[in-house]
Amino acid sequence: MQNKDNVFIFDHPLIQHKVSLLRDKNTSSKEFRELVSEISVLMGYEVTRDIPLKEVEIETPVGFARAKVISGKKLAVVPILRAGLGMADGFLNLVPMARVGHIGIYRDHETLEPVEYYCKLPSDVDERDVVLVDPMLATGGSACDAVKFIKKRNVKSIKFMCLIASKTGIERLHREHPDVAIYCAAVDEKLNEHGYIVPGLGDAGDRLFGTK
Ligand code: PRP
Ligand code: URA
Repeated sequence: MQNKDNVFIFDHPLIQHKVSLLRDKNTSSKEFRELVSEISVLMGYEVTRDIPLKEVEIETPVGFARAKVISGKKLAVVPILRAGLGMADGFLNLVPMARVGHIGIYRDHETLEPVEYYCKLPSDVDERDVVLVDPMLATGGSACDAVKFIKKRNVKSIKFMCLIASKTGIERLHREHPDVAIYCAAVDEKLNEHGYIVPGLGDAGDRLFGTK
């Protein structure tokens, strides 16, 4: 994994291979969903690398062991609706004890500005580290808005996990929230006139849920 200025890019061959399948316009919604979930597990493994452990005593069938378990209130995973749902599913396979929050944001097709329509976070989110998930970081508007929302609840930390990021999106999220680490599987060069990442993978929500 490459790390520069709080941006982590997953160059693992399995992740790269699966992202290429996601990009392919002939990949079906079923395959797309499965791939998003699989990649989220693989990425989640690294994103959770620094969660704190504590020692406990456990009785094994043949004695006692000092063993390590995850300490404290742990994690909350927060998908940005809709497309983030696909990533949250995968992440929860890896970290089933994580609490789940939801933030509903869509981009206005004309202005490309984010529009919020829903927000429900765990009541104890202020005691948790948050992993915010959304497959696409395009203009960065949705991610910045979601981070702003979450910060109002004084959470312990926020990491942003996406599949494909644009350079513009990374720059904006970094500029507005330099404390938020960005994890992604690919960084694409540009956005088109509709704010879509090029080459990207198209509309992540539509491809996940087969709505187009
Ligand atoms: C997509 C994507 C991000 C957002 C990224 O959602 O899942 O949330 O666009 O674009 P931005 O970085 O320019 O804000 P979309 O608005 O298509 O909503 P949907 O998931 O409900 O389809
Ligand atoms: N949202 C998407 O789903 N895809 C993009 O390329 C940009 C925003």
